[in-house]
Amino acid sequence: MYAIEKVEALNAEVTRMVVHAPAIARKIKPGQFIMLRIDEQGERIPLTMNSCDPEAGTITIIFQAVGATTMRLAQMRVGDALLDFAGPLGKPTELEGVKRACVIGGGLGTAIAYSQAKWLHDHGAEVDVITGFRNVDLVLLEDEINENSTRQIIMTDDGSNGNKGLVTAALQQCIDEGADYDLVLAVGPVIMMKFVAATTKPYGIKTLVSMNPLMIDGTGMCGGCRVKVGDEYFHACVDGPDFDGHLVDYDDAMRRGVMYRSFESSAREAAAGKVASEGRTCGDAAVSSGDDHKEA
Ligand code: NAD
Ligand code: FES
Repeated sequence: MYAIEKVEALNAEVTRMVVHAPAIARKIKPGQFIMLRIDEQGERIPLTMNSCDPEAGTITIIFQAVGATTMRLAQMRVGDALLDFAGPLGKPTELEGVKRACVIGGGLGTAIAYSQAKWLHDHGAEVDVITGFRNVDLVLLEDEINENSTRQIIMTDDGSNGNKGLVTAALQQCIDEGADYDLVLAVGPVIMMKFVAATTKPYGIKTLVSMNPLMIDGTGMCGGCRVKVGDEYFHACVDGPDFDGHLVDYDDAMRRGVMYRSFESSAREAAAGKVASEGRTCGDAAVSSGDDHKEA
């Protein structure tokens, strides 16, 4: 069992949780993920690391309560424990040798982008971090990113933080002002990553994107997480989750994402009713939801 050591609400929907998992904490690197299962009846969901503390033996995950399992997870408290917490899975992000990077986080993707920005900052790179949120109440990790970047630019869709626009507008401005990036790294909605890659392509800036398709086993066996890159299909769980942003077929990824949408929303409604009527009971049969797959 994997004890929950800390639970903190970052906003109305997003939770930060610290889990005791010493063997994983010693090995995991930015970009890698774990698969967790709450109990015997639960489904396995992938969550990418936000941070780790090898000395304390802990992994920090940040998730949004959007699916059946994450809704149940958000109800858990210090002293509760998770049945399974397997990892590290996936390939670490290739960050060695990068001198000047722009790390972009869209919404919840900021939780992952943080670990990559921190690694680069700790290893002497100059790191601009651009984050984007629908409004100022959803802004995540502002203080942590300030401490672990050269500069941070926070954009909001509605301008409620005084900086209206999408992350791509900020990226274009940085490039126009002469930022000489050797890597742009984007983590967020597929549509955001598509337009980040379109922004960097004319300049030939190496661009990595973190793909988050539906994942079932996380081991390359089920085929659920296929991503089309160039003319080939890859498994995000073992070949990724990072891929060359200029080669990913984003429209194919979005088509595959839409295939699960109606199933997801009915599972979410069922889960919301279950959590509301049964409080924080964790021993019930899980309602499976694709929304919970590879969230952060
Ligand atoms: P969101 O829809 O609020 O978007 C976040 C930001 O992305 C926006 O504020 C904007 O700056 C940017 N963006 C959105 N559409 C854009 C476009 N067309 N062009 C340029 N920039 C654009 O994000 P959310 O509601 O927090 O949703 C999070 C999404 O991120 C979910 O779809 C989730 O699946 C995904 N996600 C992905 C990963 C990953 O590994 N790639 C990790 C966590 C979450
Ligand atoms: Fe099954 Fe990747 S999650 S092959």
